Formats: sequence, C-alpha cells, structure tokens
Amino acid sequence: MEVSLKTKKLLLWLLGLLLLHCRAQGTVHYYDFVVKESNFTKLCATKSTLTVNASFPGPAIRAHKGDTLYVNVYNQGTYGVTIHWHGVKQPRNSWFDGPEYITQCPIPAGTNFTYQVLLTEEEGTLFWHAHSDWTRATVHGALVILPAEGTTYPFPMPDAEQILLFASWYKEDVMVLMDEALRYGGLTVLSDSYAINGQPGDFYSCSKDTTFRMSVDYGKTYLLRIVNSVQNTDMFFSIADHNLTVVGWDGSYIKPLQMTYIMITPGQTMDVLVTANQALSHYYMLASPYFDGQADDFDKSITSAIFQYSGNYTPPSSPVWPTNIPGFYDIGAAGLFTTRLRSLASKEHPVDVPQSVDTRMFVTVSINMMHCPNGSCAGPDGNRLASGLNNISFANPSLDILQAYYRNISGYFEENFPDKPPNLFNFTSEDLLTDNVTLSDQGTRVKILDYNETVEITFQGTNVMNSGENHPIHLHGFRFYVVGSGLGNFDNVSDPLTYNLVDPPEANTVPVPKDGWATIRFRADNPGVWYMHCHFDRHMSWGMDTVFIVRNGPTEETKLRPPPAYMPPCGADALSGLQQTIFQKEE
Ligand code: C2O
Ligand code: CU
Repeated sequence: MEVSLKTKKLLLWLLGLLLLHCRAQGTVHYYDFVVKESNFTKLCATKSTLTVNASFPGPAIRAHKGDTLYVNVYNQGTYGVTIHWHGVKQPRNSWFDGPEYITQCPIPAGTNFTYQVLLTEEEGTLFWHAHSDWTRATVHGALVILPAEGTTYPFPMPDAEQILLFASWYKEDVMVLMDEALRYGGLTVLSDSYAINGQPGDFYSCSKDTTFRMSVDYGKTYLLRIVNSVQNTDMFFSIADHNLTVVGWDGSYIKPLQMTYIMITPGQTMDVLVTANQALSHYYMLASPYFDGQADDFDKSITSAIFQYSGNYTPPSSPVWPTNIPGFYDIGAAGLFTTRLRSLASKEHPVDVPQSVDTRMFVTVSINMMHCPNGSCAGPDGNRLASGLNNISFANPSLDILQAYYRNISGYFEENFPDKPPNLFNFTSEDLLTDNVTLSDQGTRVKILDYNETVEITFQGTNVMNSGENHPIHLHGFRFYVVGSGLGNFDNVSDPLTYNLVDPPEANTVPVPKDGWATIRFRADNPGVWYMHCHFDRHMSWGMDTVFIVRNGPTEETKLRPPPAYMPPCGADALSGLQQTIFQKEE
C-alpha cells in the first residue's frame, strides 16, 4: 500500500509526541498484593502471621521516579487492613495514602482495593507497610525508587545493590499482644527477636542455618538500601571493618557522609555505599538496638547477617565482629550521626527551604496517662498508659477523617489541635509526676493549614513520668526539612539562631532526641488529609498522633483529586460475616 510522504511525516510526528508524552508520564506498573496468613518457623517455633504474597518481608517494588503504581490489595485475611506508601508524597492523592481511619476505612476481609501510587519527587529507598493496628510487623516491604529514566545517581554507579530490611519478630500473634496491651493499659510485650531480611541471625536459637548472607566480590561497591520497619526500637547498624558512606536518607540525597555505623529509627530509610576492600573473609553486619529511655524496656538482643567475600580462602570459624557498633544506650553516638546529615543541595537536586514561616507550632511529645475507671488499669497507680502531642491523645474516629472532611460530615473530628501545650514547665526535668503534666485528654483534633503556607514545628521531647526517650515522628504527604535539633528545653531566642536554612536534610521521619527538641519546616503544598505520628507502634496506639488538613488551593491543579469510584466502606457497612476482628471478639 502506498503511503504518501506527507502522511509518513505526520505519523512519525504523532509517534514522537506519544513517546514524549509517555516519558513525561513515566511507566505504569501493576502489582497484586494478596494479604493472607501464612506459616513461618523462627526461634524454634511455628506461627501463622499476616503477610503479603506469603512472604516476610513482603515483595520489594522497584520503579523509577515519575512512575505510577497500581497495587491491587486482596484481603484474604480475617480482619480489615490497609497499606501505606511510606514517604511517598502522593500529591493531592490522599485517597490512596492508607492510614486507617485517617484517609480510608480498612479493606474488609474478603474484598479488594486498588491503590494508585504517584512517584513524583522522591528518589532512593522507601518502604510500604500495613497501616492498621500493629499489622505492619509482618506486612511490609521495600520500595526502591530509581532515578528517572535518562538520569542517574549523584554518585558513581554502584556495582550492585542489596536491600537490608530490619523488622521485629514475635513468637505470639502481634494483634493479640496489642489487644491485651491496649485493654489493660500497661506496658506492651517486647519482641522476641529482630531480623534482617526476615532472618534473626546467629545469636538466636534455631536461627543459625538461615542467617542472611550477602555475597560480595573484592573491589566492588554495593548500594545498601536500608529500611527500619522494627516495631518499637531504633537500631544501630554496622559492618565489621568496613566504612559506610551514607548518600541517601528518606528518599532524598544527602552529602556523602562517612561513618563506621549508622543509627536508624523505625520509619527511616537510608542509602549507603560500602566497598568490599578488606581481606577475603566473613564479616558480621549487625543491627543492634539503641534505647535511651529510663524505663529500660526494650528487646536487648542483636540481629546479624554476614558480609561474605566470594573467592578461594578458608573462612574464619566465626565472622569478624564489628568493634564500632555503639552500645545499646549510646546517646552520644546516635546524636553524632543524625546531626551530621546535610542535603545534597546540588543543581540537579536543589533544596527549597522555607525562609519565612506563616504558621509556627510548638508541640510537646510525651508519654502520659489517662485515668481508668476504678483505677483498674495496668499502668502506674492503676492508670492507663497513654502518649500525646500537646497533651492530647489522638483517638481514631469511626469514619475516616478524609471522608468526613470531603463530604462535610460533622461529628468525627475537631479542628482545634493546639499550636502549643496547655502548660509550660521544665519539660526535661526529673520526676514530672503531677496530674497537670501527666494526664492527657483524648480527642480527634486536627490542625487546618491553608494551601501553600509555610509551617514550622518544634517538637519538644519531655521527660514526663521519667519516660523521656527518642521519638521518630513521621509526617505523611510531605518531605520536610530538619532545620535544627538540640538537647534540653528549646530556647526560642537562641536556638533558632542555630538553624540550618542552607542545606538541612529533607526527610519524612525526624528523631526527636530524648529530653531534646527538633525543628522542621515545610510548605503546605499538598491539599488533603495527612497523618503525623510517632513511628513506634505502641506510641502511635497510645495517641502520639495528629492530623493535618491542607485546604484546597485556588486552581484545579491545587485541589485534592476527586475520590475514586470505590472506597472501602466504614462502620456497620464494613462488618461482613467474614470480618471478625479481635476487638469484635472481645465485645
Ligand atoms: Cu510508616 Cu504512618 O507510617
Ligand atoms: Cu514515640
């Protein structure tokens, strides 16, 4: 068939346009996540636990910056769950963010829901996890975001890469443990082990045969994609005799930082380069807990993996031990690391730190208590342990806040989360034990922000009930700049003078040091409903949470996207015969 030159040219031009369009839009990926119980044997015992696609950790997702993911979640478990895309901004797309009762109701057992995940600004390592009760424990996996097609890393191309995902392992059912802890109001049960890529490692019973081994070739450089999805504990990590160069933090690049160890909190992710340049041997990679609270209430065990050179040599009887791993209580080592992180702030990866502030908030971060009928709870003096931000313990509503806000349904939340705590006192002193500082109010209070205003939040860690400890505070829907941090009470005259407004690190989770403070800044350019909470699950359940609602901007492109045709139902609608949650069983 004859095609005229003109037609050919036109077709080529159209094809070109199409290709350009595809490129700007990125690639679309589809995934099926089947959430169901499966059996695992660890620490000499077998248990069934909730997983995605029967794997622990769950499947890793790899995509490029600019891509779109559609993840169809089939809930074949016995209670409702949701999935969250931790650290993904999801511009104007709150509908698919995931935290239960904040942006959606749980996906009822026996049904499915498809998430649309827009990868726009973030680049590096993030993760996805369940965001219902404590199901994150075994429902999580890495989310690797490669540079956009046609671009590359701001460091020499590594020879290979390896995901290292830290988690907690409980011999018992985590949901049952949670239910007991919350019902009696006392301390939560500790994990039985930590794990690297699902394996506890050499220092736990019945675990030595399955310790995770990373085989390396002499002379090669590896990009480690490190994710901390541990339930309630910060971790130190190091590799015997090898230097670590940290190049990424929470899905942003930082100026390369050479360390012999790192400290990583739950909710944080790091990209780390390591060169295999030591004598051929086996070297331990250790993830060991970091805890700075007085309660001394944490799982004091160490998980290990092995950094193992390939080649012909006689391996040592036991791998080389890292002499540089800090001790469990080494607050100095933790601070030394986190205060040295700086944004890359290059031409390709610029920063945009708000230089002026429209809304300034001062938020205390505390463990506290609530009274319990007849003093019958398992916390101090028969009270119920709680936690709060500005003395408010967040309570989940029964209809998700996003829906209540979007459809203007009143009665599910109040728009009065305060900009400061109810009382000012010496936040970091010992023996803060009187009711006016220990008691929190329960409520579902949110903070409303105008589109595009700049926000500064200073988090003040308190030592109320002698329970000061590091809290990893995580914000959904934004990456913020950590402009400053310090120990003791925040001084609003001298401390702001120390802020870094030039190259502060960009993050989604900020460690608020024990009896110290941290200040973040961000621009409220993402209309929607966004959760903020401590990433220790027990503190999250106790109420160390709040929600930001960012109002729509003036144009179509600055408004929350319309809801999808289907969202999981809330309340009575959601209670199918199949759905027997632990709570329903109790009642
Ligand atoms: Cu890792 Cu609210 O999330
Ligand atoms: Cu906390």
